[in-house]
Amino acid sequence: MDFKKELNEYSEIINKELTKYLRKDECFEHKLNESVEYSLMAGGKRLRPTLMLATYRLFKNDFEKCFPFAVSMEMVHNFSLIHDDLPGIDNDDFRHGKQTNHKKFNEATAILAGDSLLNYAYLIISEELRYNISINKIEAFQELAHAVDRMIIGEYVDTEYEGKKVLIDQLEYMHKNKTGALIKASVRIGAILADASDEELKNLTLYAEKIGLAFQIKDDILSEIGDERVLGKPVGNDKKRGKCTYVSKYGLEKAEEELDKNIKEALKILEKYSNKADFLKELTLYIENRNK
Ligand code: IPE
Ligand code: IPE
Ligand code: MG
Ligand code: MG
Repeated sequence: MDFKKELNEYSEIINKELTKYLRKDECFEHKLNESVEYSLMAGGKRLRPTLMLATYRLFKNDFEKCFPFAVSMEMVHNFSLIHDDLPGIDNDDFRHGKQTNHKKFNEATAILAGDSLLNYAYLIISEELRYNISINKIEAFQELAHAVDRMIIGEYVDTEYEGKKVLIDQLEYMHKNKTGALIKASVRIGAILADASDEELKNLTLYAEKIGLAFQIKDDILSEIGDERVLGKPVGNDKKRGKCTYVSKYGLEKAEEELDKNIKEALKILEKYSNKADFLKELTLYIENRNK
């Protein structure tokens, strides 16, 4: 298997689906639509929808069934990034190697572009339910809504903890929610839509929890020692703002050990799927080894 090629193929499929929802018409709010497109199509890795589709493929092949949920997940993720960068939250100027949304447009537009992406996600799913309802899809919808709720809570505690010394439990709670929730829901939605058994769902949930935490630990590490030109977002800002991270709590070396531990545990969970999980295994390693 050529992992990079396959990852790229997933990304292209997702980009093609997202493009269908861009609003191009000349209208009074065309600047708002432009700002939504600016962030949504800025070059994100598409990790969450890729995880959803790849999890679905552990069980079934017709992954098109996931598309409305995959694009909705990516929209919600981009909403979270636009708002995360705002002056009132992380106050960052660069993402994806470009100006952040509020820098390129203005704060009002960035806030509303985020709102618009959040609601668009629900609109897309409501249309899917209106025309192609199934119990699985209702469950998947609830998974997404629950994950968004958790992500917002995680973002809140992140701001609340800024500049403070927190306990390990608090740090884990923050990471589990702000980043883990959407990643976990992506895996779970893929499994639910593929009619996975309760046992499979439980197993994959555990896998998703491990990679969700690993993903944010790596984000913390990259914020400390990443290459800004590759990363496309500022390095050193977590430290500057007194953010609570695995690096600030444990130091770089221990953070790297924690990352590795979670990745190894995640890989172990995938073992039972043998070569059906080859892509997911590589994707798990990519979470550890990525430089952007
Ligand atoms: C960045 O997520 C924000 C976190 C939750 C850590 P990604 O690194 O997945 O963002 P993009 O979409 O690829 O830019
Ligand atoms: C982002 O966390 C999490 C969400 C947007 C929900 P961070 O603030 O740590 O991520 P980056 O480094 O800005 O992407
Ligand atoms: Mg943040
Ligand atoms: Mg941030």
